[in-house]
Amino acid sequence: MKVAILGYGTVGSGVYEVLNSNKEIIKRKAGVSLEVAHVLDLRDFPGDPVESVLTHDVADIINDPEVKVVAEVMGGVGAAYKFTKAALEAGKSVCTSNKELVATHGSELMKIAQEHGCRYLFEASVGGGIPLIRPIMTALHGDDIVHMKSILNGTTNYILTRMSESGAGFNEALSEAQQKGYAEADPTADVEGHDAMRKTAILASILEGKAVSCENVHTEGISSVTMADFKYARKLHAGVKLLSVIKRENDMISAMVAPFLVREDNELFGVKGVKNASLVRGNAVGDIMFYGSGAGKLPTASAVVADMADAARCVAGLSETKQVPAWTEEPAKVIPFELYESASLVRVAAADEQAARKAFKEIKEVAPLEGEFAFLTGVMTEGVYEKAVSGLNIISRIRVDFTE
Ligand code: HSE
Repeated sequence: MKVAILGYGTVGSGVYEVLNSNKEIIKRKAGVSLEVAHVLDLRDFPGDPVESVLTHDVADIINDPEVKVVAEVMGGVGAAYKFTKAALEAGKSVCTSNKELVATHGSELMKIAQEHGCRYLFEASVGGGIPLIRPIMTALHGDDIVHMKSILNGTTNYILTRMSESGAGFNEALSEAQQKGYAEADPTADVEGHDAMRKTAILASILEGKAVSCENVHTEGISSVTMADFKYARKLHAGVKLLSVIKRENDMISAMVAPFLVREDNELFGVKGVKNASLVRGNAVGDIMFYGSGAGKLPTASAVVADMADAARCVAGLSETKQVPAWTEEPAKVIPFELYESASLVRVAAADEQAARKAFKEIKEVAPLEGEFAFLTGVMTEGVYEKAVSGLNIISRIRVDFTE
C-alpha cells in the first residue's frame, strides 16, 4: 500500500527511516506492506535517498488515488491543517504527531475522517513513543479515569534532570535538548509549558469526551525554577517536575501544567531525562503507569508508523475499526481555577516569618536557606492561597504533589 509523508524534518525523516528499516517486520505484524510513494517538503535534500520520492507540491499526494495513508509531521496549524483536511476529504487516513493541530482542530478533523470513511490518528501527539492514547481510549474502556498525573514534555524534563543531577545551567541543558532533537522549533513552547498544555488538552478532551481547550489548561512553565528550588527539593527528599495534572470530579474536569515537587516515593520521581510518563488512576484498575521516550526522532516515528499500520489494516480489510471521534466540539465543564487544590512550598524573607505564620494557619517549617523562612502549606484551593499571600512578599512558591 502506498503511503506519503508530509514534512521531512526530525520526525518525518524518522518515519521514513522506520518505514524502510522495519519494512519486513511491519508487513509481518500488520499484514500489509507500506511503500513510501511521496515525501513533501519545501526543501531539497541533495544526496539523501528521499530525493527519489521528494515533492514540493501537496497535490501530488492528494491527487494520487493509490496513496491511502498519510503521515502529517509538519507541525503548526497553518498548512498542516489545510493539507490534513484535504487528505481526509480525499478519503486518506492521516496519522500525526502534531499536538498543536490535534488540540486545536482535533474534533473537527475526526468528524471529517468519520464522514469520509477514513481515520485521523494521533498516538504520537502525546508522550512521543509511549503508547498512551490508544490504551486510554480502548484498553481502559471499563474504567472511569479519575485522574492522570503526567510528565509530558521531554525537553523540560531533560533540563530539570540535568540542572538537578549535574548542576548544568538552564541554557546549557536547553541547547543539549535542542541538539538531541527533543525541543520544538521555538523552544519557548517547551520551556513555558505550552507544549505540555496542548498534550494535556488532548488527554483531558479524551477523558471527558468533550472539548477541553488550551485556554482551559492553567499553564506555568519552568523558567522561574531556580537552583534554590532544587536545594529545597533535596531537603524534602523530592525532585522538581513539570507535571500535567488532570482530575475529573462528577461531570467536571480540571487541568493544569506547572512545576511541582514530587517526592522520592512517587513513581514520577524516577522519570529522568527525555523520558515521559503518565500515572493513570482508574476507578476499577487502580493506578497504572505508562513510561518511555517522550520525544526524539525514532520514538516519535515509532508511534506515527504504528498508527499508519493500523490505518492501512482498515484499508486492506484486515480490521473493521472505524473512526469514532474521541471528543465532540461541545465544551467540557471546567472547574474554575480558584477551586483547584494543592499544597505548596512557600519561601519568604526571614523578616516576614511572623506575617507568614499569621497568614497561613497550618504550616510545616522547612529548614531554610540563609535569610529565608520556608514552609509547606496544607492542601488549599488557589483562591484561599491567593488571599493568604496577598500581603506577603513571596520569594517563590512551588506546588507539591505529596498526597495520594
Ligand atoms: N518538544 C517536545 C518535547 C517534543 O520535548 O516533549 C515531543 O512532543
